[in-house]
Amino acid sequence: MDSPLSATTTRMSEDSTVPRETLTITDNRTGKSYEIPINHDTIRAADLRQIKVDPKEFGMMSYDPAFNNTASCISKVTFIDGDAGILRYRGYPIEDLAEKSTYLETAYLLLNGELPTPSQLKDWTYHVTHHTFIHESIKKFLDGFHYDAHPMGMMISTIAALSTFYHDAKDIFSAESRQKQTYRLIGKVPTIAAFSYRHTLGMPFVYPDNELSYPGNFLNMLFRTTEPKYRPNATLEHALDVLFILHADHEQNCSTNTIRGVGSSHVDPYSATAAAIAALYGPLHGGANEEVLHMLMQIGSIQKVPDFIKRVKTGEVKLMGFGHRVYKNYDPRARIIKHIAYEVFELMGKNPLLEIALECERIALEDEYFVKRKLYPNVDFYTGLIYQSMGFPMTMFPVLFAIPRTSGWIAQWEEMLLDPEQKIARPRQIYLGHNTRHYVPIDQRN
Ligand code: CMC
Repeated sequence: MDSPLSATTTRMSEDSTVPRETLTITDNRTGKSYEIPINHDTIRAADLRQIKVDPKEFGMMSYDPAFNNTASCISKVTFIDGDAGILRYRGYPIEDLAEKSTYLETAYLLLNGELPTPSQLKDWTYHVTHHTFIHESIKKFLDGFHYDAHPMGMMISTIAALSTFYHDAKDIFSAESRQKQTYRLIGKVPTIAAFSYRHTLGMPFVYPDNELSYPGNFLNMLFRTTEPKYRPNATLEHALDVLFILHADHEQNCSTNTIRGVGSSHVDPYSATAAAIAALYGPLHGGANEEVLHMLMQIGSIQKVPDFIKRVKTGEVKLMGFGHRVYKNYDPRARIIKHIAYEVFELMGKNPLLEIALECERIALEDEYFVKRKLYPNVDFYTGLIYQSMGFPMTMFPVLFAIPRTSGWIAQWEEMLLDPEQKIARPRQIYLGHNTRHYVPIDQRN
C-alpha cells in the first residue's frame, strides 16, 4: 500500500547492514547532537523541542506558514502524487472511479474505506435518498435572503443552521449519530443548493424526487418547471455524476484542513461543514471556477490571449484555474473534465469561451514562465465552461464543488475524530511584537 506521507523511504546507514531510520541534528550553538526517528520520510515536530541552548527554554519549533511542508495528520482516505499527476481515493485511481463508479458509490467508498456490496449500496442509497427533504422552517430561512444573495453565502448559513434542528448531532462520539448526520448532510446539501438557486430566480422550490438518481434529482430540483415528472437528460446527468466523483475529496486542502481544525474543537458536523464551505468559497480554492469564467469573458477573444498572458507574467493578474500547491503536473481531474466538456458541448452546443481557454492553455504550456513554475490547468479550468453550457449561472459554480466535497469532508472529519493522536488544533507562533508596555491614558498620547 502507498504510504500516505511519501512514496519512498530514505535509508541512512553507518555500517551497510543496519539501516538507521533516524536523522542526526547538530546544534552549532551548543555543539550537541540529537538523533531523531524518521517515519515515512517525516520527523515529528515535537522531537525538535528537546533542542535548546538553556534547559529553561521552550525548545526548537519548525516554522511553516501555509503548511508548505507540514503533515498535519495521518490519513488513509486520499493519495496524491503531485509530480506524477496521480489521484486515488482509498487506493482506487480517479480515472477508474470516473469511468466505472457513481458519485454515491464513491461517497460510500470515501466514508467507509471499501467499495460497497450490492446490498450495502442499496441501503446507503435508500438512506441518503430518504434524507433529502429539509424542514419547512429552513425554506422560510432561505426566503429571508436578498434576491441577489450569492448561493455560497446561503449554503454556509443554511448548513450551519441545520445544527439548530438536529441536536443529536452534538453526540459526535456515537457512531450511530455520526451515521445519521452523514445521511442528512449528503442528502440535504443538493436540496439546499437547489433551493438557494431557485430563491435567486424567485421561482418556487421543487421538492426532491426519490425515484431519480442523486444528480438526476439535483437537476430536477434546479430546473423543473411545469412538467408533472422531470426526466433529466442522460448525458447531463452522467456528466454531473462524473464531476461529483472528481470533486469528492482531495486530501489536506484548505477546506479539508478547515473541517479538521474546526471539528477538532468537537463542534457538531453541520457547524464544521459550514466552516469548510466558507473556506471553499474563496477564489484561490473552490471559487476559482467562477473566477475562470470572469477571466475568459474579460479576455473576450483569442487575439487578446497573448496580451493577457503578458499581464499574468508581470504579476498584474493571475491565470485563474492554473497552478496547484500539490500538482506540479497536469491535474488528472482536468484531463477527465476536458473529455466530459466535449460530451456536454456536443449536446448543448460549443461554449464560445472554449477557444479562449484552449488558447490560454496552449500558450501557457509552452511558455517559460509557466513551464519553470510547473503551472498546469487544475480542476477548475474547464469546469466552469461545462457548468455554463449546462445552464448554471456562475454563482452556482462553487456550490457544484461543495455538494460532492461534503462526502470527503465528512470522511476526513471522522478520521480526525477517531484518531487517538489528534487533539484540538492549535498551532504555535513566533511572537515578534512589543515586549511589555504600560497603558498610556488617551489624553497623554500623541
Ligand atoms: N497564475 C500566475 N502565476 C501563478 C499562478 C497562476 N494561477 N499560480 C501560481 N503562480 C506563480 C506564483 O506567482 C509564484 O511565482 P513566483 O515563484 O515568481 O513568486 C509561483 O507560481 C508559485 O506559486 P505559489 O503562489 O507559491 O503557489 P501556491 O501553492 O501557494 O498556490 C494556488 C497554489 C492554487 C493558490 C495558485 O496556483 C493560484 O492562485 N492559482 C489560481 C487559483 C486557482 O486556480 N485555484 C484553484 C486550485 S485547484 C482547486 C482547489 O482544490 O481548490
